[in-house]
Amino acid sequence: MNARSSYSCFSCFHLFFLVVLALFRLCSSDQNSHHVLCNDVERQALLRFKHGLTDESQRLASWVAENKDCCTWAGIACDNSTGHVHRIHLPGSDGHCDILYDGVTLKGEISQSLLDLKHLKHLDLSCNDFGGIQVPKFIGSFQNLRYLNLSYSNFGGSICRSLGG
Ligand SMILES: *[C@@H]1O[C@H](CO)[C@@H](O)[C@H](O)[C@H]1NC(C)=O
Ligand SMILES: *[C@@H]1O[C@H](CO)[C@@H](O)[C@H](O)[C@H]1NC(C)=O
Repeated sequence: MNARSSYSCFSCFHLFFLVVLALFRLCSSDQNSHHVLCNDVERQALLRFKHGLTDESQRLASWVAENKDCCTWAGIACDNSTGHVHRIHLPGSDGHCDILYDGVTLKGEISQSLLDLKHLKHLDLSCNDFGGIQVPKFIGSFQNLRYLNLSYSNFGGSICRSLGG
């Protein structure tokens, strides 16, 4: 009798465990179904953008081809339902431009591949160090851009003139 009751108790626990496991799997697959991977063209564009930059502080370490979902890359946010990149937020020095430590800024050049991000609304590259180059003219061509911050990023020339031209 003892053996019997401990057996049924074991199977009861077993069943309970299975139910918990099933619920857990159900919940996590439910979460995944809401998650849209980033658009492949946009992922390639971001990789080319990274290629033009010098990233001494490894801020863009998560930006690698093996990591398929560019929506999870540092500084990137996507529209949840479409997977389109709508935000690049990479201010240098954590946005504290007054303390420009060497090495926490992005350098190099801004690749025109960014124009492939057709749904980009927000681009913040403030407080980086672009070494006095001109603001690229194509920056004025984003159709959906609502927020652009290139301040304290060591650009030469006037942004307004570049945007106008
Ligand atoms: C998108 O997903 C993130 C994380 O799951 C969530 O925090 C955010 O509120 C969602 N945004 C919209 C607009 O649904
Ligand atoms: C632009 O970026 C700088 C540095 O990150 C920040 O201090 C400033 O408030 C930003 N400007 C706007 C209009 O958001």
